[in-house]
Amino acid sequence: MEIKSARFIISNTDSGKCPQHDKPEYAFIGRSNVGKSSLINMITGRKGLAMTSSTPGKTILINHFLINDDWYLVDLPGYGYAQRGQAQREQLKNMIESYVLYREQLTSLFVLIDSRLEPQKIDVEFINHLGEEGVPFALIFTKADKSSRSRLNNNVKRFLDNMSEDWEELPPYFVTSSIDRTGRDELLSYIEQTNKSIRV
Ligand code: GTP
Ligand code: MG
Repeated sequence: MEIKSARFIISNTDSGKCPQHDKPEYAFIGRSNVGKSSLINMITGRKGLAMTSSTPGKTILINHFLINDDWYLVDLPGYGYAQRGQAQREQLKNMIESYVLYREQLTSLFVLIDSRLEPQKIDVEFINHLGEEGVPFALIFTKADKSSRSRLNNNVKRFLDNMSEDWEELPPYFVTSSIDRTGRDELLSYIEQTNKSIRV
């Protein structure tokens, strides 16, 4: 799929105030600093579209971007960032939870996993929670440029093997790098196919 346009629409603290429309939405979630905002910029080919930072905890709002006037990408705050105060952590958790569980337009949630790490408890728990709630999701292993191919393949395999213990069927998954654009075509094809399949 070609990206003809990518526009920032609005930021919200409250999922109830997100834009009303009947277009599919694809949202990015994952631990702080895993590369959600960078991936939105890489996919759209618009460098400064979503705000990124080397310091975790950059994105603190629900951000809607309209792509090709046809579907939305949604950038969410990261989970698991311990440096915040208890009150703000709670507030962010509630905001993410209400978006993920109740947003009708959410077609697929992409859960981003740092491909450099062995399976992290917080990611596994979050994914299991999605399963219990029946939220459709796919996995994205990020920062592929940072590891050798063998370490990358090994980490992906370990994560999927670990998931197989709890899940009968594994979700679709992608390997990406926002630096060298690995995975861009695959991700855009998946979104294109999904858009088609829900519109027939
Ligand atoms: P929060 O908004 O804080 O939850 O973080 P985020 O998940 O949106 O991460 P963000 O995109 O801001 O990126 C965090 C850091 O990781 C930045 O310094 C990025 O430059 C870096 N980064 C993101 N993606 C990649 C990647 O694919 N490869 C490499 N090498 N660095 C990346
Ligand atoms: Mg971000």
